[in-house]
Amino acid sequence: MERTCLAVILAAGESTRMKSSMSKVLHPVAGRPMIAHVMQAVSGAGVSAAALVVGRDADKVADAARVAGVSVEPYLQKERLGTGNAVLAAREAIEKGFDDVLIAYGDVPLLTAETLNRARQALTDNVDVVVIGFHTDKPTGYGRLLVQDGELVAIREEKDASDDERKVTWCNSGLMAINGRRALDLLDRIGNNNAKGEYYLTDIVEIARAQGGKAVAVDAPETEMTGCNNRAELAIIERLWQERARHQLMIDGVSMIAPETVFLSWDTKIGQDALIEPNVVIGPGVTIESGAIIHAFSHLEGAHVSAGATVGPYARLRPGANLAAKSKVGNFCEIKKAEIGEGAKVNHLTYIGDAFVGAGSNIGAGTITCNYDGINKHETRIGKNAFIGSNSALVAPVTIGDDAYVASGSVITDDVPGDALAFGRARQEVKEGRASVLRARAQAIKDAKKKPA
Ligand code: UD1
Ligand code: CA
Repeated sequence: MERTCLAVILAAGESTRMKSSMSKVLHPVAGRPMIAHVMQAVSGAGVSAAALVVGRDADKVADAARVAGVSVEPYLQKERLGTGNAVLAAREAIEKGFDDVLIAYGDVPLLTAETLNRARQALTDNVDVVVIGFHTDKPTGYGRLLVQDGELVAIREEKDASDDERKVTWCNSGLMAINGRRALDLLDRIGNNNAKGEYYLTDIVEIARAQGGKAVAVDAPETEMTGCNNRAELAIIERLWQERARHQLMIDGVSMIAPETVFLSWDTKIGQDALIEPNVVIGPGVTIESGAIIHAFSHLEGAHVSAGATVGPYARLRPGANLAAKSKVGNFCEIKKAEIGEGAKVNHLTYIGDAFVGAGSNIGAGTITCNYDGINKHETRIGKNAFIGSNSALVAPVTIGDDAYVASGSVITDDVPGDALAFGRARQEVKEGRASVLRARAQAIKDAKKKPA
């Protein structure tokens, strides 16, 4: 039978060093709150229930932690008395009785399900505690893992460590797996007789051993265990996340010329053989299908780009932009809540918002859908194979039929039937010889100014 597992996620920190009006675990990494990344990893590790230990912004943190696949129950830690005390804030959850209890921190968002699974797998019949460690050349500040004959004998906090112990470079990430049947008994034995006067979760290692149990450590990559205390570390975590996501996309068949200049979101989906040129920013909610090309300096969010479509350079796709196969959105175009039909072209300097553009239509340079009257938004519908001349304003609500033509520079306020030609501009007048008359008049004004009074 599958082992049941409770995850206890510690997120009751004050976030003082973030200097922020909100808890640090709400700060986004790749467009998603840090805590949601942790919950994603937890969910992938086969965890059925999660106890979230919260302090400030409790409701918002709990909301942000609700990702698919895990039920989340918040527990308030009233006073910040240390990590051992924090875990016990979730006493009620632990009491329900699980085979495994996983401890994770809300501010370690690069954590993966694989690492949590490895910790769970190392929890065997005679092992009560599995600590996730990492090797680092900058161990200062971390608890050190003291190992003998393959067993973890203690975790020593920096402040309590001897000079020799401080030389150890295998460190405690803070994350661990505990035998769920023994967890409460072990946690209740943690005291606060140490340099900081805190209840150290780390004491659980020596306690388990004193009770006849065994503790071991498993290793995880240092980058994955990076924690966030301030905004400089937040930026490092963002960089590491981006590097990992870009790498995975390239391995999966997406081309990037300068991957270090491409920014992705947590939910970005890109198909095989798509090409992402340099300096592209992809916000949340974007799907790019196979073979699409996103040219340089484009910005996309909430958009769908179908197979073989091209975007940019310098294009902006806003939420609800939906580009059908082989359509083109070119330079300095903005598309918002609009469908661009198969093979349709919106190539230059255009705004298309709240609109439908039929397959094969051509939208000339400088076309604007005037979708907003200052109070309401209105729709523009353009049929198939229509041609909108350059610098036209389509004042919504308005419909342009299939195969219709709109003359350049038109302001279109009435519907245009299919196959019609619409002009919405003053008719051109030509006055022969008038140019030299105008020039002579202007010159006379200039000469009059020069004459002495
Ligand atoms: C802790 C570990 C240390 C480890 C390090 C890794 C202990 C005693 N030490 O030290 O061995 O190397 O993490 O980063 O566990 N928290 C609460 N309530 C509390 C205290 C902490 O929710 O009362 C949360 C914090 O929000 C944070 C996490 O627990 O997410 C770790 O707390 P922190 O005070 O940063 O622990 P460290 O001293 O860094
Ligand atoms: Ca810390």
